[in-house]
Amino acid sequence: MHKQITSSLLRRSSPFLSRGTNCKPLVLLRGAGGASQPHLNTTTTTTTTGYYQPQLHHHHQHVQIQTRYSSHSPMGLPPTNPRKKVTLNTLQSMYKKGEKITMITAHDFPSAHVAEHAGMDMILVGDSLAMVALGMEDTSEVLVEEMLLHCRSVARATSRAFTVGDLPMGSYEISPQQALSTAIRFIKEGRVSAVKLEGGAEMAPTIRAITTAGIPVLAHIGLTPQRQNALGGFRVQGKSKESAKRLLRDALAVQEAGAFAVVVEAVPQEVAAFITGLLKIPTIGIGAGNGTSGQVLVQADMTGNFPPGRFLPKFVKKYGDVWGEALRAIETYRDEVKGGSYPAEEHTYPMAKEEVEAFVGDVRRLMNANASAKAEGEGEKDA
Ligand code: KIV
Repeated sequence: MHKQITSSLLRRSSPFLSRGTNCKPLVLLRGAGGASQPHLNTTTTTTTTGYYQPQLHHHHQHVQIQTRYSSHSPMGLPPTNPRKKVTLNTLQSMYKKGEKITMITAHDFPSAHVAEHAGMDMILVGDSLAMVALGMEDTSEVLVEEMLLHCRSVARATSRAFTVGDLPMGSYEISPQQALSTAIRFIKEGRVSAVKLEGGAEMAPTIRAITTAGIPVLAHIGLTPQRQNALGGFRVQGKSKESAKRLLRDALAVQEAGAFAVVVEAVPQEVAAFITGLLKIPTIGIGAGNGTSGQVLVQADMTGNFPPGRFLPKFVKKYGDVWGEALRAIETYRDEVKGGSYPAEEHTYPMAKEEVEAFVGDVRRLMNANASAKAEGEGEKDA
């Protein structure tokens, strides 16, 4: 039996709707027997993916409600993970306890959603999205407006993790005022909790200006990809005594300027660990070994969401094969559509047999009538 449910019933039964959505869902009841109005008691169960699945009991029978918003599957509820929202205080207390801080990049709603469900402490909307999400050659091409769009979609999927938006090249280097006004846009329009910017001691006045305005700053030293041209490419930093000392000076300067933490990229692990030991703020390493206060990786890299043969930096561990799984699924779909085995019966919407027959009968009668009228008209023309 399929029954249309009123929106007031749904509002009582489905947590989706109590979130104030404007959508007008079509709800189908599956599995209830009998023609009478069912006596409905509702309970809500939560699946392992965190989606709410309201269930209606009809005379001891379980009835599953399907709530449809569009032609795709809805996403968007927070994980069932009850952990509290991560704040600067949470990060500071993890750091003090020696608990490693976990950070990953996300560039859109689904990638943030999965990171949130996996319990990441921090989610970075890194400008690496220029390459992994927008197909640009390098990160220098991405615009503030583009970053803001991605920040907003990540923020919508994130209720627990501490979110950081990466200031793109050209949006903060000219002056502390320029940097502050861009940082304000990231908070107001991008809906993230903090900003990240690349650079060491030379960026201290800028970091000071932003943090003084009440916006947390994550600094980024070592290999700073936005400066790849000046650095002579993507090169490991801090490999000599002098360069390691420069790195330490940078780390101390960004700390002194008010950064709440600092990303240390592509640095020998001894240097990163030594610097970490001298700081009072957490270091988040990427290609900097295991002696930092936390780690960050680009999500597309670590989940294996790229075709075979693509270059992967030495420090990246490939934890999954998202590309392989997506490819397998899409190829199977292609084959099943070509071969006619998809969609199968269970993927179709049923209609009462009498309705189908009535519909086909009506249309056939109409078509026959039209054909006769046409033939009559042609007969008259010939005569
Ligand atoms: O843009 C980015 O994703 C980053 C991380 C790699 C730290 O800056």
